[in-house]
Amino acid sequence: MGQVMLITGGAGYIGSHAVKELRRKGHRPLVYDNLSTGHRWAVRRDELIKGDLGDKEHLQEVIKKEKPVAVMHFAGSIVVSESVERPEFYFRNNVINSFNLLEAMLVSGVKYFIFSSSAAVYGIPRQIPIPEDHPLGPMNPYGEGKVFVERALQWYEEGHGLKYISLRYFNAAGADPEGELGENHNPETHLIPRILEVASGKRPFIEIYGTNYDTHDGTCIRDYIHVTDLAQAHILALDALLDGTSSRIYNLGNQRGFSVREVLEAARGVTRCSIPARESPRRAGDPPVLVASSKRIKEELSWKPIYDDLARILSTAWKWMQRRLC
Ligand SMILES: NC(=O)c1ccc[n+]([C@@H]2O[C@H](COP(=O)([O-])OP(=O)(O)OC[C@H]3O[C@@H](n4cnc5c(N)ncnc54)[C@H](O)[C@@H]3O)[C@@H](O)[C@H]2O)c1
Repeated sequence: MGQVMLITGGAGYIGSHAVKELRRKGHRPLVYDNLSTGHRWAVRRDELIKGDLGDKEHLQEVIKKEKPVAVMHFAGSIVVSESVERPEFYFRNNVINSFNLLEAMLVSGVKYFIFSSSAAVYGIPRQIPIPEDHPLGPMNPYGEGKVFVERALQWYEEGHGLKYISLRYFNAAGADPEGELGENHNPETHLIPRILEVASGKRPFIEIYGTNYDTHDGTCIRDYIHVTDLAQAHILALDALLDGTSSRIYNLGNQRGFSVREVLEAARGVTRCSIPARESPRRAGDPPVLVASSKRIKEELSWKPIYDDLARILSTAWKWMQRRLC
């Protein structure tokens, strides 16, 4: 039996894919999730502990009893526009609850932590591709919360010897190539599943927010990373921590951007559906271009994305959506 790893948010989109990879590598993933946006079907029954990160006592009990070697922290709330409307909720769920988790780890002497951070820490970038040492400038409570936690981690390391890796994901997309897992958010705010919902008849058209950005076709450009490549990066980060690496921050993207129109065109090709689109005004706070430099994680952890082709990302997501809607 492998070592226990505690995975908060393991019933969610990205966490469930990481759990699958951990199992494949012989670890014993244990999911801690309140199922607020995650799904029971995404977790094996014997791997789920239903619990809320706000319940400090329960969390401490679980960590004391299960003695995980490391914690991967995916749990949180993820809708940027909602974070602007309800900052208090985002700071509670994404910041205070992260501190509850770190405290519970401290009480039981758990030393390794992998954090789901985000490209939202950068705000409007001054440089593309964005390196990890780019100045931070979050433009919403969601991104600000990620910065708070990252900053706190440095002090937990200084004061208590915590070793951490913070992974700043760009746009997670795609689904498990074996078709077992995939994205299922409600409401769905991410471009690729929204486009595919139009292809499958669940949504009448896709809105393109802003067509006059300073980009080659006027629409926003994003860096899409396949969820299985993301999960793989977590395994590499875990191995590095267990091997004694120093604490690090890594971007996770493919260092290649696609505009909204390009994603739409590629989705039309993959689904062979016409996918009607409507042009809408810009949304507040959308940077025109977000593309990661992924040089650091490739060099230091030998991370090699496998599903880095947009058509492949789209086809795994499409396969998943068709299965889900059957
Ligand atoms: N999806 C992306 O493109 C993306 C990009 C950058 C960063 N991230 C980060 O990755 C992480 C996972 O994102 P996701 O897309 O899988 O989201 P998700 O909503 O699918 O998963 C989040 C999981 O956390 C659980 N959860 C939320 N609050 C909890 C609490 N208080 N106690 C216990 N469980 C709780 C939910 O039930 C859910 O299973 C988040 O921290 C998010 O900020 C995601």
